[in-house]
Formats: sequence, C-alpha cells, structure tokens
Amino acid sequence: MSGIAERIVHAGYGVVFRGVFANMDPERAHHLAFGVIRALPSIPVLSGLVERYSRPPAQDGVTTMGIHFPSRFGLAAGFDKDARAIGGLGLLGFGHVEVGTITAKAQPGNDRPRLFRLIPDRALINRMGFNNHGAAAAARRLERARRNPGRPVIGVNIGKSRVVDVADATDDYLESTRLLAPFADYLAVNVSSPNTPGLRGLQELDQLRPLLSAVHDAAGRVPVLVKIAPDLTDEQIDAIAGLAVDIGLAGIIANNTTIERSGLTTPAPEVEAMGAGGLSGAPLAARSLDVLRRVRAAVPSSFCVIAVGGVTTEADVQARIEAGATLVQGYTAFLYEGPTWATRINRLRRRRLRREARAAR
Ligand code: FNR
Repeated sequence: MSGIAERIVHAGYGVVFRGVFANMDPERAHHLAFGVIRALPSIPVLSGLVERYSRPPAQDGVTTMGIHFPSRFGLAAGFDKDARAIGGLGLLGFGHVEVGTITAKAQPGNDRPRLFRLIPDRALINRMGFNNHGAAAAARRLERARRNPGRPVIGVNIGKSRVVDVADATDDYLESTRLLAPFADYLAVNVSSPNTPGLRGLQELDQLRPLLSAVHDAAGRVPVLVKIAPDLTDEQIDAIAGLAVDIGLAGIIANNTTIERSGLTTPAPEVEAMGAGGLSGAPLAARSLDVLRRVRAAVPSSFCVIAVGGVTTEADVQARIEAGATLVQGYTAFLYEGPTWATRINRLRRRRLRREARAAR
C-alpha cells in the first residue's frame, strides 16, 4: 500500500477501534475482523490491491530450517487457531502464519469471557484454553491452503487435548503430528500456554525430552520447534535450549504469554477482575528480549530462533533481529494497530534495507 493509503487506513482503523471495537466484547470483535480477513482473497479488486502494496521486500527474505521465508516477520499462533484465514493473512503482508494451537481432539476451550483488553498497556489477557476444531479438520483445511501458490509459509502449532491426562501427553501430540506434519512447513510444539492445566509442567526436562524426541521422529523431514514460556528461569531456558539442540530440533520460539502482572498501567483491581490467563503485548517486550538473548547465547548460530512477545514497530523487529532472532512474530499489536500493521512493517523494512544497501556501496 502506498504510504498515504496505508496511513489513511491506519487512522480509519484507529477511529473504528475506539468507536466500535473497544466497546465490543473482545472475542466478538475478533470474530468480526477475522471474518473480513478470511473473505479477503475472494474479493477480486481489493485483494489484488492489498497484495500489491503489502508485499514484503525481497531483500528481507531468509532461508532457515531449509525453508525460504519471504520476510522475517510473521503472525504468531492463536490468531488463526483453525487454519481458516491463511490466504487473507498472507495478503495482509505476513511472511509466515503460525496456525493453532491445534489439539488432536476438537474442544470448545474455556468458558467466556476469556479474552480481555488492557488498552492503556496495549496488552491482552487471554485464557482461551485451545478452542479449536481438532487436528483432522485442520488437516483438511491445510491441504487446501497449501495449494495456493502465493501462500505464506505455514507453521502448525500443536498442543495437548484438555481431556487427555498429562501422563499421556506424548501420544496425544503424536496423533496431531501424524495428522498435521504432512501439511506443515514447520511444526511448533506448544508446552507453554498457561491455560491448559499441567501443560507448562511439560517443560520439565524429564517430560520434555521424550515428548520432543517422539514428535521429532514422527515429523520426518518437517522441522520441529518448541515454544517456551517467558516465566522460566534462566537455568531452565539454558537447559531447554541444550535439549532442543541435542535432540536435533530445528528451533525455539521465544516466547508465549506470561502469568506475570507487574508494571501495568491498567489499575490493579481491573487486572485482578480479569482473572487468570496469559498476558501479551507491549508489557511483555522487555522480558521477551531477555529470553531471546538467553536462547540465542545457548544455541548455534544456524539454529532458528523465533522472537515473539510485545513486538509492535519495525524498530522492534530490527531490535529482535539484532539480538539474534532468525524470524520475528507478533499477535497483540495486530489488534491495536489494525489491518495495515504488517504492510507498514514491510514498508519500513524496505526503506531500512535500501538505506543499508546504499550505505554499503
Ligand atoms: C495467544 N498465544 C498463543 N500461543 C500459542 O502458542 N498457542 C495459542 O493458541 C495461542 N493463543 C493465543 C491467543 C491470544 C488471544 C493471544 C493474545 C495470544 C500467544 C502468542 O502466540 C504470542 O506468543 C504472545 O501473545 C506474545 O506475542 P504478542 O502478542 O505480545 O505479540
């Protein structure tokens, strides 16, 4: 999108956000916006225009895990839980889309309300609880999505079905792996959502090693990454990074939402009333950067590290790359910045890369 059109849409989104979305239940607002994004590829003139202007600069492309990513920047897991809007999200400028979390069994997730905005903090709290249609339904959709030649890179994030005991988690993840790996560019093993009882306990090494080894073996040639929590200690991060390298995983995604609530502008009683869940967005940025640095220091330079948590601006993307990220993702800022978010980041990256190329001549 030309800079001017992009700014107009961005300003318009600000008005709609403040006037409409902010007064609406956040999950309803999500479904509304999601419906439009999902429909985008079937609106001929608009989709062509959007695609033309949102495209990432070719110089921002990177090859990692044996996959060529058209850009460093993509959409984190949780937005497209059921792999229904990959085409539309690609049109909006995301170089990759991580769908899921998908569980082997379809499940409704937690009771509503389960998604809350902390507008002064540009943050969210969610306890969605892996609401999704299950791995078999997702596999059918992914098979279709892969046929689209202009599609973004597709990551598939898998988690544990709620009804399955933690002791039987490996078999449950394996069922998802068998169904989904054939349609994934990469697989992300989510052991870090705070909203499924016992899930984060799978980050303990004695549980994590057999789980990741089994998924790695079952995934065949599809690269496997593990997604970790920001609430781990430095020693735990080092240990998981060492394990991931030892097993032969392709990478680490750092990180998921936090159960921390410190340093927020939103009044504490309001935050408390929202209840349990994972906090995401701007307040997570500093911790995510620390986790990224810790992970990067513990793994070889060829190892893929995906940075996620509180990324809002192109400068944030650049800071993560400079701190060692191979790829960068975001989710919460999409809600606050609107549909031109990835387009703007792509435009500013094009400008930065051109400037750097000129300076190098
Ligand atoms: C998430 N996130 C997430 N992560 C994951 O691995 N599986 C999931 O199903 C979800 N679901 C989910 C729902 C909602 C509403 C949000 C806001 C987030 C976490 C997400 O992928 C990311 O790791 C964090 O949100 C941190 O990034 P941002 O949002 O600060 O850019």
